[in-house]
Amino acid sequence: MKNAKLSEAKNAKNDEFYTQYEDIQREVNAYLEYDPNVFRGKTVLLPCDDPEWSNFTRFFAQNFENFGLKKLISTSFAYESKNFKGAYQLSFFEEEAPQFDESKTKTHGKIFTLTRDSNKSGVIDIDDLEWQYLEGDGDFRSDEVKALRDEADIIITNPPFSLYREFIDWIFEKEKKFIIIGNKNSVTFKEVFPLIMQNKMWSGKTGWGGGMWFETKNPDDVDKVIDGVNMKNVSSVWFSNLEHGKRHEPLQLMTMADNLKFSKHKEIKEYGYQKYDNYDAIEVPFTDAIPSDYNGVMGVPISFLEKYCPEQFEILGTSDNGIIPDEYKTTFGLTQKFVDDYYRAGGKGAYQEGNPTAGLYKKGVATMIYKRIFIRKRAQK
Ligand SMILES: C[S@@+](CC[C@H](N)C(=O)[O-])C[C@H]1O[C@@H](n2cnc3c(N)ncnc32)[C@H](O)[C@@H]1O
Repeated sequence: MKNAKLSEAKNAKNDEFYTQYEDIQREVNAYLEYDPNVFRGKTVLLPCDDPEWSNFTRFFAQNFENFGLKKLISTSFAYESKNFKGAYQLSFFEEEAPQFDESKTKTHGKIFTLTRDSNKSGVIDIDDLEWQYLEGDGDFRSDEVKALRDEADIIITNPPFSLYREFIDWIFEKEKKFIIIGNKNSVTFKEVFPLIMQNKMWSGKTGWGGGMWFETKNPDDVDKVIDGVNMKNVSSVWFSNLEHGKRHEPLQLMTMADNLKFSKHKEIKEYGYQKYDNYDAIEVPFTDAIPSDYNGVMGVPISFLEKYCPEQFEILGTSDNGIIPDEYKTTFGLTQKFVDDYYRAGGKGAYQEGNPTAGLYKKGVATMIYKRIFIRKRAQK
C-alpha cells in the first residue's frame, strides 16, 4: 500500500511517458476495422505531443494518405514548462531550420502541421511536416491550443497523467471525438465515471491486462531496460468515444447454477455469490463469473469495462466517490463491529468510504472489497 502510494506520487511528477508505435497501431486498427473511413477527410489533433520523441505524430504522418486525412496537427509542450525536464536537447526539427530561434526554443511550444506534399517527393509523409513556434508554451489549456481543439474533428494522445481530469473536461467542453490513454483507476473519478455510465466514453480495445509499457524519460523511474531504452509499466488503457467492434460483442456467460458447479474460480465454488452488507447487490469478483441469468444488481471489478457491451448490461454506478443512486444502498451500512472484526481477523488495507463489504467471505474473514462497478443485465428484446 505504502509503495503504491509512493509510486503514484512519483508518477504524478513525471508526465514524460512515451507511447510505443505498436501500441498506437494496434489500437487505431480497432477503429479502422469497424469503419475503414473513420479518419477520411478529418482533421486530427495530437496535443501534448512531441514529434521528436512521440510515435503518435510519426504514426499518423506515415498513414496520412492511407487514412485519407485532411489535416494533421500536433503540438508540443515547452521544455521549461515540463515538470520533469531531463537534459535539454535541441530537436532535430529545429537543428537546421531557418525559423530556429534561440530565444524561443526552451520556452515555447511548437505546432506541426501536415496537409500537403511540401517537399514534392510524390508522397505525403513525416518529411512534409511544417512547423513553427506557438505564441505560448503549448499548454493544452491555452487559447491558441483550444482554438486548434475547436478546429479538430478527432483528438488523439496520451495526455499528462497529472492533468488527466482537466484534459477530460477540456475534450468534453466541445464534445470532440477522441482516442486517449488513461490510468485504469481513472474510470471511477467523479469527472470520468458519469461519462462512462452515459456511454459518452468507453474502453478502447487494447491495453487491459498487464498494463502498458512506455518509454520513460526519467532515469530514476525505470522498470526495465529494453534494447537500451528505459521502459516503465503503467496500468493504463485506451478510452474513446469512437466505435469499435469489440464493444458490441456480448460476453458469453454461464448461469449461476453452472458457475457454482463448474466455475474455474474456487472462490465462486466455495463461497458462491454473496450479498453485500451495504449495497443491494451481489459480489461478482471476476468478470467471467457474471451469472447470465441473474436479473438483480451485481458488483464487478473495474476491469469489467474491457468487456462491457452496452446492449448486454447497463452500468448503474460505482462504489467510489458515491456515484450510485441511494436506491441501491442498503440501510445496514458499515457497522463499527464489522470494521473491528475485519482488522482483528488480520484483514489488510485501509477502509475506504464506500467500498462494498461482504459478510464472512474468505476463510471466515470479513472482507472489504476493492472498488466495484455496479451493473445489471438489460432485458432481452
Ligand atoms: C504522457 S506524455 C505523452 C507524450 C506523447 N503524447 C506520447 O504518448 O508519446 C504527456 C506529454 O504532455 C506534456 N504536458 C505536460 N503538461 C502539459 C500541458 N499542460 N499541456 C500540454 N502538454 C503537457 C508532457 O511534457 C509530455 O510530453
